[in-house]
Amino acid sequence: MSDWQSAPCAKKHKEFLQQVIAILMDSTFESVSRENPVLRWREPEHLQDIIKFKLQDQPQAQDSLLKAAAQIIKYSVKTGHPYFMNQLFSGLDPYGLAGQWLTDALNSSVYTYEVAPVLTLMEKTVITKLLSMFYKEDNGSSIGDGLFCPGGSFANGTAINLARFSYRRKSKSGKKIPSSNLVLFASEDAHYSILKWGNVCDVEVVLVKTDKYGRMDVSDLKIKILEEQKRGNYPFAVAATAGTTVLGAFDPLIEIADICQEFDMWLHVDAAWGGGLIFSKKHSGLLRGIQRADSILFNPHKLLAVPQQCSVLLTKHDTILKEAHSIHVPYLFQKDKFYPKDLDLGNKYLQCGRRPDVLKFWFMWQAKGTSGFEKHVDHLMTLSVLFKEEIKKREGFKLVTDSCFINVCFWFIPPSLRDQNSVCNYTKRLNEVAPRLKEKMTKRGSLMINYQPLHEKPNFFRFVIQNSGVDKQDILYVFDELENLGECL
Ligand SMILES: Cc1ncc(COP(=O)(O)O)c(C=O)c1O
Repeated sequence: MSDWQSAPCAKKHKEFLQQVIAILMDSTFESVSRENPVLRWREPEHLQDIIKFKLQDQPQAQDSLLKAAAQIIKYSVKTGHPYFMNQLFSGLDPYGLAGQWLTDALNSSVYTYEVAPVLTLMEKTVITKLLSMFYKEDNGSSIGDGLFCPGGSFANGTAINLARFSYRRKSKSGKKIPSSNLVLFASEDAHYSILKWGNVCDVEVVLVKTDKYGRMDVSDLKIKILEEQKRGNYPFAVAATAGTTVLGAFDPLIEIADICQEFDMWLHVDAAWGGGLIFSKKHSGLLRGIQRADSILFNPHKLLAVPQQCSVLLTKHDTILKEAHSIHVPYLFQKDKFYPKDLDLGNKYLQCGRRPDVLKFWFMWQAKGTSGFEKHVDHLMTLSVLFKEEIKKREGFKLVTDSCFINVCFWFIPPSLRDQNSVCNYTKRLNEVAPRLKEKMTKRGSLMINYQPLHEKPNFFRFVIQNSGVDKQDILYVFDELENLGECL
């Protein structure tokens, strides 16, 4: 068996694969150790010297492939490290990782039962369970349907398409309303994918004002809907957010659902970030009203720390996914199959080939139980309160808003700027602090935490965590590190 053949041969590949597994095993534990850096920053030119990116005409020896594997790991960011707090995903869950490895070993695609029998049943089980959690029916029965999507942005786009499909189907005139006359409303703090998908679907997206906490202003929503109606346009959907990306705000879902009912509009809730709260008895109140949504986006790869990517779109409408997406595909979804046709999940999807993202989620869920996810979420919420309390105690730290979720947005004010009245161009200089600190921490490899401006506010840091291996000492470390790095700015 030669290396150009895509099949393993025990004699040639067993030892090689064992060595790769040994590298992976070492990296799993090294990458989360507080003794090691979050990243080893190298300038791009230097990195190109270290790792030979250029593709070769001749095959490389296994030894150099093993060396490359080790280098790739060494110079990549350790997203499972406790001091990686940069994005809305982090952590390296051992069971999630095992699920991810299983997923890759199977190299499956979940479109037909014949190709993915186990994964099909697994996907149906997880979707049904999530539907019962988000759309609680009094009689305990479950409604609706759902999809695994390649990320939250794609799920938002799918929801917009479903909303448009549903609106056009209801249209009394019988004429197809042009997309450009359809108007969708989202808050100005909603995720940017909504605007992108507005472009893709050619529907107008109107941004609604937010209050000081970043929540959608419901009176502005109503005013804007009426304005669009007066212009002869068709308000067809609202995309509310449960856990905004920067401030972690929750739009008032009950009031928004009332407005959607009044104007006969589709309600989509982007709970990509906040949706994991459904697992917590203590904190799920923040999602109050979500069961009234026509569609819900929830990313287990964010708050629940399931490995990337794991994203789910749920809808309360039992048949809409099939109605909006299915077409006759005689080579894949044959009508004369020898098993029940509804086991072929692929036809309700927009994708054809599709990774079984369910596997790692199911595996984690089995390992932790629903109660384990609850403890995980509650721990993160507790740490975030601790973080807020520490900000209030320390000189030089100032909250941007008082959030009720994980996100804690704050300014670090270096000693040179603390006497605001004696500093010229105060806002401009404050704006420069976070990017400079970010550069220092990245080059030192000591911490990764994100910053951004928002509306008129100068750059500020956003603390977020999804890694429940983080503890109180780690929180104090973040403050000490920012103080150390920033004292001379
Ligand atoms: C509120 C919200 N919605 C959607 C998304 C997009 O999710 P993804 O990164 O999986 O595309 C994000 C990403 O951070 C988000 O914060």
